[in-house]
Amino acid sequence: MDLRTETKQKLFFLTIKCLEKEKVIQTYTGEYRNLMVLLNEKFYLEDFGECKGMGRCGTCVVKVSGLKGTAISMERNEAATLDKMNIKDKLRLACQIMINEDIENAVVEVAKHL
Ligand code: FES
Repeated sequence: MDLRTETKQKLFFLTIKCLEKEKVIQTYTGEYRNLMVLLNEKFYLEDFGECKGMGRCGTCVVKVSGLKGTAISMERNEAATLDKMNIKDKLRLACQIMINEDIENAVVEVAKHL
């Protein structure tokens, strides 16, 4: 059964640059727990998301532009982890970015391939 049809979720798109490919991904709010899960399911990345979304390992770093609303702010351990890694400037932890319309039309680049 198609969850999107049942709940009539609005579809939205984001662009992913990963493994030297660029793909436009269609998704909807809640289809994936967070951006890290979406990236792992779409690209089968090795060593990506080792702490399973706790925001502590830093292996899910991505470069993101075009975030809106609540997706802009960092919560939980994200700022501290990025600070420890000495990372700044548009880099985020994919596990801390929820899948909702605040990431509509965002461009995501997997950091290890920058
Ligand atoms: S999965 Fe570990 S920081 Fe994101």
